[in-house]
Amino acid sequence: MQALTRSHPATGRRGALALTLWTVADADRMGAYWARNRDRLTPTQPHRDEAFWTPAGQASRMDRAQGDVAAGRMFPFLVRENGELVGEAILSDVSRGPFCSARLGYSVDGARLRLGIASWAVDAVVDIAFTPLALHRIEAATLVDNVASQAVLQRCGFEPVGVAAAYLAIAGGWRDHGLWQRVNPGMTPPAA
Ligand SMILES: CC(C)(COP(=O)(O)OP(=O)(O)OC[C@H]1O[C@@H](n2cnc3c(N)ncnc32)[C@H](O)[C@@H]1OP(=O)(O)O)[C@@H](O)C(=O)NCCC(=O)NCCS
Repeated sequence: MQALTRSHPATGRRGALALTLWTVADADRMGAYWARNRDRLTPTQPHRDEAFWTPAGQASRMDRAQGDVAAGRMFPFLVRENGELVGEAILSDVSRGPFCSARLGYSVDGARLRLGIASWAVDAVVDIAFTPLALHRIEAATLVDNVASQAVLQRCGFEPVGVAAAYLAIAGGWRDHGLWQRVNPGMTPPAA
C-alpha cells in the first residue's frame, strides 16, 4: 500500500509541510496544541472535559482511538510545519462496502492561519483517502457560519450537499451544519 504520509517543500511564508499519522510520542505536542488553541477552537468543538486540553488527556484520547485505528476505521493525521505540530486532519467513521465513505475534521494552529495549511492538508488527506485507502466519498460538516472551513472545502473540490438541522451538539447546543462531500469519480463500485 502507498504510504499514508504526504509532504510539501517550503513555499513563500510557509515552511515545509508534512502529514503523518499520530503516534504515542505526539501526546505532549498535541496537549500543547490544544491548550494554546483552546479559546479559538472551543466554539467549533463538541463538549470536551478539562483533561482533553492536556497532554494526559490527548494520550488517553489516542488510547481510546487505538481500536478504531487498528481496525482501519480511523486515520488520525497530524500536520507539521518544519517539524512543529500546526494542525490535525482526522478521517473517522470509515465505512466499507456499498458506502465506502468517511468523515473528515480538521483544525490549524491560530498562529499559522491563512497560509494555505488547511487547504494543503485536506488535499493531502483526500489523496490518501482516494488512492491507498480506496474510499469513494469523504464527508465534512461545518457550522453554517464557519466561513473559513467552508472556503477550505470549496477550494479542495468538496460540493455542498445541504444543511442538516440540529446535526451535532457543539458548544452546548444542537447546531445546524452544512454538509459537504467529495466523491472519487474513478472508483468502480464493489461487486454485488
Ligand atoms: C478552518 C481552518 C482549518 C482554516 O485553516 P487555514 O489553514 O487558515 O486555511 P487556508 O489557509 O487553507 O485557507 C484557505 C482559504 O479559506 C478562506 N479562509 C480561511 N480562513 C478564513 C477566514 N477566517 N475568513 C474568511 N475566509 C477564510 C480563504 O479564502 C483562504 O484563502 P486565502 O487566505 O488565500 O484567502 C481554521 O480556520 C481553523 O482551524 N478553524 C477552527 C477549526 C474549524 O473550524 N475546523 C473545521 C471544522 S469542519
